This record gives sequence, structure tokens and C-alpha cells, in this order.
Amino acid sequence: MPENSLTVTDNRTGKVYSLPIEHGTIRAMDLRQIKTDPHDFGLLTYDPAFMNTCSCQSRITFIDGDAGILLYRGYPIEQLAEHSTFLETAYLLYRGSLPTREKLKMWVDGVTRHTILHENIRRFLGGFHYDAHPMGIFVATVSALSTFYQESKQIFDPEARRITFYRLVAKVPTIAAFAYRYSIGMPIAYPDNELSYTGNFLNMMFKGTEPRYRPDPVLERALEVLFILHADHEQNCSTSAMRVVGSAHTDPFTAIAAAAAALYGPLHGGANEAVLKMLNVIGSKDKIPEYIRRVKAGEVKLMGFGHRVYKNYDPRARIIKRTADEVFEVTGKNPLLDIALELERIALEDDYFVSRKLYPNVDFYSGIIYQAMGFPTEMFPVLFAMPRVAGWMSQWEEGLLDPEQKIARPRQIYLGAERRDYVPIEQREPALTGSMLP
Ligand code: CMC
Repeated sequence: MPENSLTVTDNRTGKVYSLPIEHGTIRAMDLRQIKTDPHDFGLLTYDPAFMNTCSCQSRITFIDGDAGILLYRGYPIEQLAEHSTFLETAYLLYRGSLPTREKLKMWVDGVTRHTILHENIRRFLGGFHYDAHPMGIFVATVSALSTFYQESKQIFDPEARRITFYRLVAKVPTIAAFAYRYSIGMPIAYPDNELSYTGNFLNMMFKGTEPRYRPDPVLERALEVLFILHADHEQNCSTSAMRVVGSAHTDPFTAIAAAAAALYGPLHGGANEAVLKMLNVIGSKDKIPEYIRRVKAGEVKLMGFGHRVYKNYDPRARIIKRTADEVFEVTGKNPLLDIALELERIALEDDYFVSRKLYPNVDFYSGIIYQAMGFPTEMFPVLFAMPRVAGWMSQWEEGLLDPEQKIARPRQIYLGAERRDYVPIEQREPALTGSMLP
């Protein structure tokens, strides 16, 4: 019997099977040979929410959730946050290694050249209601871009993929800033390609009547760090959406819209917005014990706490906490910080959170910084989505070029009605029609 294998006895038939173990996994398809008779479909696995299923092999991001480690292409997130820029990190994620100076220059030039949006997109934005959520605008507008760049459908052409990567990374800050300014009735500010990626984003967000916007270097760098931290996070909900939609060979603009739609949810990228709302509801430090009581009673969740993978302090939250101090030197302290710090202190001493290994995640402190920098709460999920585009595109391309991948198509356990005949409407008993609701 090979050492790296699992022996399974099917007690229904008494047959014994040997399943190879590779990288700590067995292949689900190896279970298919386990049948009660030749007509049996074969054994399947049942894994709601993919709690214990690897959907791909990846070489991009590594997380050790118990140790609180996050690596992009092998590089610790702490080192990238300290030394890298967002566009260099985007290159690293996409290409697999750090660029030379020359390659980085070409890469940055390539992205920067694509920051402008087609004027029809600006007109398209005018169709949204004045109080539209910027994340809704973001999802719709990214999807609409696919109609402007039809060559993005040539997904097996490396050059088309490269240009699409440039376009997406370059245009999402423009979309995000336009969506924000539209929502507050400000004239849009066009990109300034002399500025850095984050400096230009601040320009498009906050430029007033001054002839040229000069970003504060501390805030510009803080945003760079936040973008690096959010650039990828292996097979989370939105990345899985990107890979699943991409597996149907949908163009990347449309697939990114699907990924962003997943990120919009309050359990995922919408959590940073939910944290701010929660801190405002709590209002003051003396109200924290009552809020903790409600969390423990299952009435509310402690937003920004807990993670499917991290059962330790999220390393990104640790870096963000440090970045907050630098930002507050410039902006003045966000009063919500004191509530957040006290909330964290109390939670980390409480057995409910300790026993469940619930620690602050990336969203717990990011919103407090974004708010101090002047971003409205509704923009927070958009600020998460923008840098994640680099990760989504890298993960999408890896999946696309993986010869083992096919169109994603999970199985189900069917527990519904057995075959039955259609009943004419006049013969239907109320009991047969199920719910009383129309
Ligand atoms: N507040 C209170 N209890 C919690 C929380 C929380 N934030 N998170 C988990 N729990 C409890 C949960 O009720 C369960 O308790 P019990 O065993 O008694 O039923 C236990 O902890 C295990 O939780 P789970 O729901 O099985 O964990 P999960 O892996 O399915 O959910 C999560 C992960 C992130 C959706 C969840 O922790 C959560 O809803 N957190 C708040 C939302 C949030 O901050 N999301 C951002 C995640 S990080 C950014 C990203 O990558 O998206």
C-alpha cells in the first residue's frame, strides 16, 4: 500500500479502495469509483460553503490562518506594505516575480496610459439616481466597460489579456471617483497622469477649484499600503466568483463585475462599511458592554471580527492599525478609534471571542482610516474592490491557463419532490400548492 494514500472501506459492499493523497488532499473524482453496483453514479462529497474543498491549485497567495501569515508570491505582506507600491505589487501578483526597474516603468506607463474613461461612460453615469450606492454604480460600470472593449473577449490572446489588465487596473479608480462625485453633485475631476496611482485617485476624489491637486504624501502612502493589503486574498468569495464566472470564458470586465458584486455583501467587502455603522450605533465606550452582550446573545454580529481562514490576528489588521497612527497625525484622530480600540480590548478578553478564535480582520480598522481621510462610508467597499482587481485578474488568468480547469459546475443533493404529474388548476387542493404566499 503506498504511504501517501488513504484506504477507504465501503461498508455497503465490503470493497476496499486506496486513494492517493497529494498536497494533503484527495481528489474528489477518485471517490467516483466507489459504487454499490455498476449503475450507481459513484460517491460524491457534500461541502456547503466549500468549508473543506480546494477548488484549484494556485501559486499566487499563501495564507496560514492559524499563524496569521499572508504571502503574495512568497513575499510577506509586512515587507510589501513597507517597501512596495500598489502597482509593483499588482505586477508581482500578475507576473509572479518582482519587476526590474525597467519593467516596472513599462508596467506603470502601461497602466497610466489607460486612466481616462470613454465619454459615453460619463454619460452612462448620468442615468443613476442621485443617491445611488457607489458600489452599485461600480459593479454596473465595470460591466458596461466590456461593451467598449470587445477585444477583451479574446481571452486566449496574451496581448489582449495584458491590455485588459492595464485597462481594468487603470480605470477602476476613475470609475470610483466619478461615482462619488456624481453622488454629491460635484463636477468630475479628470485623471492627472503625472501623479502616482493613489495620488491621482485622491486628485479625482477631492480636487476642488485649485488648478492642480497636490496629494498629502502621508495620505498618498497610507492609501498605497491599504491597496497593497487588499490586493489579493486567495480563494475568498469574490475571487471564487471571478474564477467561476471566468471558467465560462466570459470576458474579464463582466467577470470582474461578478466578483465585485460578491464583494459588495456585508459579510465580505461590505464589512468595512458595516463596522463604521456599528461603531456609530455603539456611540460611546460606556455602551460597549451592552453591545457585546447583544453579540453574545446572537442578536447582532461584531462586524470586522472573525474570518473563515484566520483563527489568529489578521496580519493586515495589524499593519492597518499602525497606518492609522500615521494618518491621524495628518487628519486628526477619528473619535471612533477609541471605541474600536476598547471594543477590541474587551472582545479579546472575553471567552465568547477567545474560544471561537474571533480576532479583528482587515475591515475592523480600515474604515476608520478611510473616514479620517475624507471618504464617505458608502465608498468603503469600492475602496476594497479597486485594488482587489489586480488579485482577481491574476487569479482569473491562472485559472484560465490551468489545463486541469473546466467550466465550474458543482453537484447537488436533490431532496425535492419525486416525479409527479401536472395537476390542472381547477383540481388543485390548497394543501398541494405549498406556501400560502402568492
Ligand atoms: N460576531 C459574533 N460572532 C461571530 C462572528 C462575529 N463577527 N463571526 C463568527 N462568529 C461566531 C459564529 O456565530 C459561530 O458561533 P457558534 O459556533 O456559536 O455558532 C462561530 O463564531 C463560528 O463562525 P462561523 O459563522 O462558522 O464562521 P464563518 O467562517 O462561516 O464566517 C465570517 C466568517 C467572516 C463571515 C464571520 O466571522 C462574520 O460574519 N464576520 C463579520 C463580518 C466581517 O467582518 N466580514 C469581513 C471578513 S474579512 C474581509 C474579507 O476577506 O471579506
